[in-house]
Amino acid sequence: MTDTHLMAAWQPKPDATLRVEAVDESLPGENEIAVHNAALAINPADWILQAQPVGDWMQYPMILGNDVAGEVVAIGPGVTRFAVGDRVLGQAVGCWTNTPAKGGFQTRTILDVNLASPMPNSMTYTQACVLPLGIGTAACGLFQTDHLGLDHPRMGAKKSGITVLVWGGASSVGSCAIQLAVAAGYDVVTTASPKNADALKALGAREVIDYHRNDVVDAVVAAFDGHQIAGAIFTVGETGPCYDAVSRLKGNRTVASTLPIPEDKPETVTATQIFGLTLRDNEMGKAIYEDYLPEALKNGSLKPAPAARIVGNGLDALQAALETQKAGVSAEKIVVTLR
Ligand SMILES: NC(=O)c1ccc[n+]([C@@H]2O[C@H](COP(=O)([O-])OP(=O)(O)OC[C@H]3O[C@@H](n4cnc5c(N)ncnc54)[C@H](OP(=O)(O)O)[C@@H]3O)[C@@H](O)[C@H]2O)c1
Repeated sequence: MTDTHLMAAWQPKPDATLRVEAVDESLPGENEIAVHNAALAINPADWILQAQPVGDWMQYPMILGNDVAGEVVAIGPGVTRFAVGDRVLGQAVGCWTNTPAKGGFQTRTILDVNLASPMPNSMTYTQACVLPLGIGTAACGLFQTDHLGLDHPRMGAKKSGITVLVWGGASSVGSCAIQLAVAAGYDVVTTASPKNADALKALGAREVIDYHRNDVVDAVVAAFDGHQIAGAIFTVGETGPCYDAVSRLKGNRTVASTLPIPEDKPETVTATQIFGLTLRDNEMGKAIYEDYLPEALKNGSLKPAPAARIVGNGLDALQAALETQKAGVSAEKIVVTLR
């Protein structure tokens, strides 16, 4: 049945603008919840997939959108962690799985429970929606055993004495990676523009190196001050300086990267490419969204970062929001509210 309150912003085909229209009500299946969205955040993946598919399995029309926050309106069979009325944030997977009901850019999204977390009453939906894809992607890179395989974040984690390099700490993935690595007991050295240094230190980074410096590689190596590297997560920017720095450090010279691995990387550096959806199908979804995030959000040890910049209200505002994200952001997440 079509309910006029149920609307979606469809991506009709590659290289077209979004088209907002009514959709049928979709019901949550096993281990799924239906969420009435209150705020949506924009990621580079959204405008990338608006332009073209990244795999031949992708089917258009699709519903883009990875980051949602809202209220649970229905629960599927087997769901015990959530009840109708709960406030939640979650990672929407529809565009990656050819399931439009699970896309983020609509008023009601079906979420997998292992990619959803309750959120505290003190946090607004606008704040919360900045987190899901950033947290999920950072967690895949830092903790999955096919990437850096680091210790998981937990309350009161002991300091390991070794250091993670987060290349591009002011990005969405980077801001989450800094916080997750610190929560797992690692020191963090990161790169960003100087204006963002204090904010990244507030998230837990020990040193923030300006990536515009001509001697950025030397400066990153010096920031390790002889300490071992636990591994690096490359989130954004130029790959060359990141790999060069890692090649000069002692310890685990592995880079987990959001981007394809450069063909000319140093031979002494191992590299893996992250796919931020993989936590859905392994233990990492539960480790982050169930075992870590609810408590970390409640006690404030994990902060919603980067800060939300609201650019409009309603699904009709999404097209301009995509273009704003694509034009470039600095330590901020573009957000559209729905109420
Ligand atoms: N593989 C996956 O599954 C996956 C998942 C999510 C994202 N991604 C990709 O990961 C990348 C990051 O996404 P995002 O949403 O986190 O990005 P974002 O928030 O849009 O990144 C913006 C930030 O990039 C920083 N930056 C720009 N050039 C830099 C450089 N040369 N060195 C260091 N930092 C630099 C800027 O820092 P300053 O403001 O401090 O200058 C800015 O704050 C994108 O390419 C995205 O497509 C991949």
